[in-house]
Amino acid sequence: MASMNNESDLFTGFRTGFKSFATEAIHVGQEPEQWKSMAVVPPISLSTTFKQYGPGKHAGFEYSRSGNPTRNCLEKAVAALDGAKYCLALASGLAATMTITHMLKAGDGVVCMDDVYGGTNRYFQRIAAEVGLEVSFADCTKPQLLKAALKPNTKLVWIETPTNPTMKVVDIKTCADLVHQHNKDIVVVVDNTFMSAYFQRPLALGADICMYSATKYMNGHSDVVMGLVSVSRDDLYERLKFLQNALGAVPSPFDCFLCNRGLKTLHLRMEQHFKNAMAAAKFLEADPRVDRVIFPGLPSHPQHELMKRQCTGCPGMITFYIKGKLEHATAFLSNLKLFAIAESLGGYESLAEHPAIMTHASVPEKERNVLGISDTLIRLSVGLEDEADIIEDLDQALNAAHPKKV
Ligand SMILES: Cc1ncc(COP(=O)(O)O)c(C=O)c1O
Repeated sequence: MASMNNESDLFTGFRTGFKSFATEAIHVGQEPEQWKSMAVVPPISLSTTFKQYGPGKHAGFEYSRSGNPTRNCLEKAVAALDGAKYCLALASGLAATMTITHMLKAGDGVVCMDDVYGGTNRYFQRIAAEVGLEVSFADCTKPQLLKAALKPNTKLVWIETPTNPTMKVVDIKTCADLVHQHNKDIVVVVDNTFMSAYFQRPLALGADICMYSATKYMNGHSDVVMGLVSVSRDDLYERLKFLQNALGAVPSPFDCFLCNRGLKTLHLRMEQHFKNAMAAAKFLEADPRVDRVIFPGLPSHPQHELMKRQCTGCPGMITFYIKGKLEHATAFLSNLKLFAIAESLGGYESLAEHPAIMTHASVPEKERNVLGISDTLIRLSVGLEDEADIIEDLDQALNAAHPKKV
C-alpha cells in the first residue's frame, strides 16, 4: 500500500502486514480459469438459475439470489481488500445495515454512534426500534460514554468513523476492545463507507464486521447503489449468508460487475481524492469567509493524530461552516459551477450539499443542533478533477456568497 504523495506518507495506519493492495484489487477472485472461456474480465452472469447435473448436484450455483458468479468475483475481491475471510454484497448500504441488524431478535439492544448517516439513524430509530429492538445512541469518540451505554441485552454496537457529516473520528481499536472485554459476543460493526478499504481496515483494528455503502468510494463512479459486508468470524458469516438469501436484498449481476470494475482503480482514486481534498481544505481554512473547516487530514482537526495512527489517508470529504447565515450557505451552493449540488459522495465528480436540508433532514432538528449540523454547515465530496479548477470553483462561489470580503 505505498502512497504517492507527501500528505499520505504522514499516515502510518495499518499499512504493514497486508499484501499489495493494488495487486489484490486487480487479481483476487478474477482468475480467468474459473470460466470455460478463460475470460480475463469477469463476465456478467445474468442467468437467474443454473442447470444441475442431477437433483441437488450442481456446479456451485443454483439460483441467483443465493449465489451468482459475477457477485462471487466481487465478494472475493472485497474480502481480500478488507483482510477478511468473507464478504457479502447487498442491494444497498441500508440493505446491508438491515441484513446485519436482522441477526438480532426483539428485546436485544443496539448501541449506535450518535453521529451517523441520517438514513442509518432513521433505520435504527424508526424501524429497528419499532419492531422491538432497544436502540440507544452514544458518542463513541468518548469510549467511557460507549462503555456506559452497554447493557446486559446489548448485542450490536454500530460505529461510523469519520462521522457523517461532522467528521468525528472514533478510536476503533479502543472501542472494539472495550466492548469485547465487556462481552465478547457483542458484534462491533464499523461503517467504513467514508474511508473505503484502501484507507482504513476495521477488522484489523478489532471490529467484527466492516460494512460499506459501496454506492460511494468502493464503486466510485456514482452509477451503482450497493452495500458490502466483510467478516472473518465463521458463525457471523453463516448467519449473514443465510440472511442475504432469506431476506433477498441482493444486488444485480450488472451492478456487481460495475463495482468489481471500480475496485480496480480504488487505490489510485483514493490517493487523488486525498490530494485534492487536502488542497481544498487548506484553501478553505485560510479563507476569511469560512468560519471553520473540518478535515481529518488537517492538523487543526481535534483527532488528527488518531486519524494518522488508525488510517492510511483521508477521503475527499470536507465539512465547513461558511460565515453568515443560511442565505450565505445557499448562495455558495447555488453558485458552484464545477461541484454539483447533490446528495451522495465518493464518486469521481465533485459534489456539494447542505446536510441540514438534504442528507440529514431525517435527523430531528434538536439532534441536529446537538451534533452541530447547523444552517451554515456545508459538506463537500471532492472529486478527481484538476486541483486548481476545484479551488477556483470554491473561490468564485465564496465570492458570490460574500461579495465583500469579510
Ligand atoms: C456513511 C453511510 N453509510 C450508509 C449509507 C447508506 O447507503 P446506501 O445509500 O447505499 O443505502 C450512506 C449513504 O449515504 C452513508 O453515507
